[in-house]
Amino acid sequence: MDNIRNFCIIAHIDHGKSTLADRFLELTDTIDKSKMKNQFLDTMDLERERGITIKLQPIRMVYQPLFKQREANYILNLIDTPGHVDFTYEVSRSLAAVEGAILLVDASQGIQAQTLANYYLAVEQNLAIIPVINKIDLPNARIEEVSKELIGLLKCKDSDILKVSAKTGKGVRQVLEAVINKVPAPQEENPKHFFRALIFDSIYDDYKGVIIYVRLVSGRINAGEKIYLIGAQKQGEAIEVGYFKPGLTKTEGLSAGEIGYIVTGLKELNVCRVGDTVTLWNNVQNLPAEAIAKLGLKGYQQTKPMVFASIFCKEGVEVKELREALEKIKLTDASLYFEPENSLALGAGFRCGFLGLLHLEIIQERLKREYGLNLIVTLPSVAYHIKLKNSVKNDFKVIYSPQEMPNSNEIEEIQEPWVKIDVITPKQYLGKLMELIKEKRGVYVNTDYLGVERIILHYKLPLNSILTDFYDKLKSVSSGYASLNYELIGYQPCEVERLDILVAGELVDSLAMIVYKDSVYKTGRRIVDILKQTLPRQVFEVKIQAVLNYQKSGKNKGGKIIASSRIAPLRKDVTAKLYGGDVTRKKKLLEKQKKGKKRLKERGKVDIPTEAYLAVLKR
Ligand code: GTP
Repeated sequence: MDNIRNFCIIAHIDHGKSTLADRFLELTDTIDKSKMKNQFLDTMDLERERGITIKLQPIRMVYQPLFKQREANYILNLIDTPGHVDFTYEVSRSLAAVEGAILLVDASQGIQAQTLANYYLAVEQNLAIIPVINKIDLPNARIEEVSKELIGLLKCKDSDILKVSAKTGKGVRQVLEAVINKVPAPQEENPKHFFRALIFDSIYDDYKGVIIYVRLVSGRINAGEKIYLIGAQKQGEAIEVGYFKPGLTKTEGLSAGEIGYIVTGLKELNVCRVGDTVTLWNNVQNLPAEAIAKLGLKGYQQTKPMVFASIFCKEGVEVKELREALEKIKLTDASLYFEPENSLALGAGFRCGFLGLLHLEIIQERLKREYGLNLIVTLPSVAYHIKLKNSVKNDFKVIYSPQEMPNSNEIEEIQEPWVKIDVITPKQYLGKLMELIKEKRGVYVNTDYLGVERIILHYKLPLNSILTDFYDKLKSVSSGYASLNYELIGYQPCEVERLDILVAGELVDSLAMIVYKDSVYKTGRRIVDILKQTLPRQVFEVKIQAVLNYQKSGKNKGGKIIASSRIAPLRKDVTAKLYGGDVTRKKKLLEKQKKGKKRLKERGKVDIPTEAYLAVLKR
């Protein structure tokens, strides 16, 4: 194990992780030159198109260090991680599988919000940290200032900080040397020689079934041996084992300290969970259940979804297909949460939980691209905690959608999730940023200084406030310089109401939303106007109403109408066939039409087309 080094690269988005990984791959001759392409480890189409890393990606390299030529080659296991805050779960799992981290900072940008967030995650895991300043070839590189920022953060010496250009390759070899010298070799955990490995990721292969990505903490596994998943209490077989080079590369076995994969032969999608421990069936088959459970390694904290939205199938898509696609995506993205849901208007679907809006967008896009599914996704919202009148103290019900919200006369208190945010910005944008955050209901906490020119603003605010256009506005008022990180801190009371929509007197369940009391009128008006423009005309007049406190029946039937509009009926000229002549006959026909329309209006149902939903759901 002495010649193994497991490490990852952590950084703010776009600071050059994947490019640095490219240089490592070249330097270690891991990839054939003819197959090399930029950001090699970003394998998904979506990652390449958007230029962002979404999934963690392990790779094994073999390296001969400069000053240790007499020793054997070193095996370097690198896990490339995403930079965006929505994919932090990928980062935290990667960090738990390694002993060291390269903290990469862009020389022109300096420390940014996710640099800090990821750095603290690495510190929590007790990882050896190698500070590296990247992009020193840029004309606007501020190497000295950025060094000072890093010295302030890490309390290290300037000589500890490596300065590189991942683009030109300058200084990159020194980074690998530092990995060998500063990152400790993995230690085999007790019980020694007893195979145990932590599952940090998984994928599904149509032919091979579930493939788990593992970090071995003790013992050895050979291909062909029977395995046992401790958490899932499930047997399987290591049909194939191997490592990442960068594709799946078969080997005879894997030993303590290594990072690799096991083809489990399991076909069920929901059995393998990241964070579970895999061992050999031989080791545990004669042990009582409690003793087996104790052998489980410390897994990962379950993620808490922050943003919820429902996903329904459009015409021609079966809910079964959607379920299977979600299950397969969940294998590769453990932070996705979903449960079945039924809507009167939109049919069967799933209520899904995401780590943020980008996460939602990526899942939606993956469902479309990888599984060819045509879907309707409802407005993203947060979860609310609701305390009913006469309920026991601190007994809160959690609701994930407006449909679950009780009527306001039954509610004593509603709480919404709050986040703490860190905004890193050059000083000159301070005023405008503070104004923006205040407008979004932010509560000031304090300010820290990063060197002379830049500051870190700490605020608390409702998660809801950052769900819409907050990030875009933050970028626009700071000319693109400010960066943001957020973290859930708990729930606080809020003033919100359910806003219902009636079309032709009928409640349209799936258009209900939870809105801050001080903006219900504006929102109600907006939705009514959108529906007026998008609903098809009927032969009868259609009333559209936005209503508060709507009750379907009982003594308070109805509710408070706060906005309404009408769509005029289609006119059919029933007198067209008459050629002049008798006025009374014409009157009679018109009278008959009027009666018919009145009847229709009373009983008429309006089918809401998908386009109308989409128009409302689009902000
Ligand atoms: P995410 O995975 O999205 O977080 O990004 P990343 O950190 O992997 O960054 P990536 O490697 O995709 O690089 C972002 C951009 O910076 C790309 O356009 C790179 O070509 C560029 N870049 C990376 N390293 C350097 C460097 O040393 N010098 C210069 N000039 N550009 C670089």
